Amino acid sequence: MKPVLFLTRRIPEPAIKLLEEKFTLKINPYNRALTYQELIAGIEDAEALICLLTDNIDKMVINCAPKLKVISSYAVGYNNIDVDFATQRGITVCNTPGVLTETTADLTWALILATCRRISESERFLRNGNFKGWEPMLMCGLDVYGKTLGIIGMGRIGKAVAKRATGFEMRIIYYNDNPLAETLPFEAAEVTLKTLLQEADILTLHLPLTQETFHLIGKEEFTLMKDSAVLINTSRGAVIDEKELTKALKERRIFAAGLDVYENEPYIPEELLALENVVLLPHIGSASIETRTKMALLAAENAIAVMERRKPPARVN
Ligand code: DGY
Repeated sequence: MKPVLFLTRRIPEPAIKLLEEKFTLKINPYNRALTYQELIAGIEDAEALICLLTDNIDKMVINCAPKLKVISSYAVGYNNIDVDFATQRGITVCNTPGVLTETTADLTWALILATCRRISESERFLRNGNFKGWEPMLMCGLDVYGKTLGIIGMGRIGKAVAKRATGFEMRIIYYNDNPLAETLPFEAAEVTLKTLLQEADILTLHLPLTQETFHLIGKEEFTLMKDSAVLINTSRGAVIDEKELTKALKERRIFAAGLDVYENEPYIPEELLALENVVLLPHIGSASIETRTKMALLAAENAIAVMERRKPPARVN
């Protein structure tokens, strides 16, 4: 008999086909995320789990799955999974690094340009019938070309964002919590977080959410930034203190922000929604058809490899 794999949301078909050969599949029948209770009910008899970043895989959920051998996340970030507890229980946790790097870097750049050049605000203005002709100062934003880009977290995605910045002839500075093992293939200066906050025109976050990075950017950090600074976040919402960000944007202590992620997704505070100087996207960093398919295949391969006692392509613990 094939082992049961619980899939908490339908993922691209090529992965489902692959999984069907190896598992008895139990798939979330709804076109929405599962509730916590549904997650618990679904996982009971599973030996393998493929979950999303929106599923809270905590101790309680893991404890409800006595046969579980692998948690394969359809995401690179795994802050939603109690990895320590899974490790104690001998469960392998896997994720999908690498395949989404370039797609997320592209979206980071879409946000950089949209935020600096006020693209969403301009389109809202036009669609609302306010465009009455060219004006000398209509929707003036900030240049990107030649500015200083501050990258917080020079991992895979940080590097891919930096590589694109060379085409804009930017000065690149970065902060990373530990020294890089390799030489970067572009010019970039490592600086302290304080220097980065003070010198960067555009700051972009590429960090996992951990106890150390929670609210890394808060009240004090906003006071160090230039009043022309633009802050971009495509990593995890809680790396920024959202209340302090909202205040800084409202009081024009920074120029603007471009966000793909939020502290309590999908909740977005009314106060933030009301602001014009923030571009807000619905967590679509890796959302290209090609990349989501690659993520699905990698998540499937991870689960299959663990069940076949092979080394999975991307293991977390
Ligand atoms: C991830 O994989 O962690 C992203 O946030 C989803 O694309």
